[in-house]
Amino acid sequence: MNINKNYQNISDSYLFSTIAKKVNEFASNNPDKKIIRLGIGDVTLPLCKVVVEALKKASEEMGIKETFHGYGPEQGYDFLKTKIQSYYKMHNVDLKLDEIFISDGAKSDLGNILDLFDVDNTVLVPDPVYPVYVDTNTMAGRKIIYIDANASNNFLPLPDKSVKADIIYLCSPNNPTGAVYNKEQLKLWVDYANENKSIILFDSAYECFITDENLPRSIYEIEGAKTCAIEFCSLSKMAGFTGTRCGYTVVPEDIVFDGVILNKMWLRRQTTKFNGVPYIVQKGAEAVFTPEGQKEIQENLNYYKENAKIISDTLTKHNIWHIGGKHSPYIWLKCPNNMTSWEFFDYLLNNMQIVGTPGSGFGKNGEGYFRLTSFGSRENTIEAMKRFDSFLK
Ligand code: MLT
Repeated sequence: MNINKNYQNISDSYLFSTIAKKVNEFASNNPDKKIIRLGIGDVTLPLCKVVVEALKKASEEMGIKETFHGYGPEQGYDFLKTKIQSYYKMHNVDLKLDEIFISDGAKSDLGNILDLFDVDNTVLVPDPVYPVYVDTNTMAGRKIIYIDANASNNFLPLPDKSVKADIIYLCSPNNPTGAVYNKEQLKLWVDYANENKSIILFDSAYECFITDENLPRSIYEIEGAKTCAIEFCSLSKMAGFTGTRCGYTVVPEDIVFDGVILNKMWLRRQTTKFNGVPYIVQKGAEAVFTPEGQKEIQENLNYYKENAKIISDTLTKHNIWHIGGKHSPYIWLKCPNNMTSWEFFDYLLNNMQIVGTPGSGFGKNGEGYFRLTSFGSRENTIEAMKRFDSFLK
């Protein structure tokens, strides 16, 4: 028996697991210190009321013979897919129900989708980037090439026609930088992919943070995207589902490679390897897309946006270069005093008991940068910024 040796090419532990380990060590050595966590993008506000009511009702149904649900459709129930279809319609995107696949979150499907592609494909990822894109492809043994995202291109790299890539990852609003592509920039990527017969894997997990109507929330707002892009979205950040687990993946029927319709291939993959998201969870997700649900989640999103403003204002006051926070829950800042990302991480943890995410954990271009999230409580965000104030002085 031979193991998959590609695992030897990834670091021993996933970025956020490494951080959690360091923080837990600090916490057990310093039980009297209050740690403020602005590291992993995990929400702190509870699920909204209509979602909780829907979850309760669905749980009751599961205990009654007449309304009990066993295996559901692997690609999700129509009651939820119809709601998602209408949500896209609000942004002038028409989707067929069969193009929507309910998942247990964007992260799983971003990894699972690779089942459809040959290991010989070349993968293009922006650097810095959400580590899942790199780690999943390294595990499979694919060749990865990087495209620089840095201050000179506002962390929004554009396609280079001289580079040939088969699988392209884009994330907008971006994790970790919070940068957002406009329609013209995304159109360049869509044209590149169609011309080169490449596939774009578009991570739109943070689309709900976009407030400017002119910025695209879905890649399908761009003409030509339905022949070259698969979109991954999640209710984690949108509706506080990080612990409840529900998302969706859109695979348009018009994506065809070598005469094979990718939508059918994905359906085949899902029906074989996945038994669907629990009925109860899908009922909770359905409630997110009702008018009451949308109103309640918007209140939560506004709360996080206000946190982002509090962080951004503090950094501005101290002339710390940063982006993000406006159409994104992430603030991406330059470490003060030329510290490396991990030096700044240790400094903040040891002196201020604030946890953030070192930029270098997202790639080499992230070195010297740091990511803070606005997903903390208001009280903790204010307290963290007070501590920042004293440090930056
Ligand atoms: C992050 O902090 O980058 C995210 O929470 C990770 C994720 O969504 O898996």
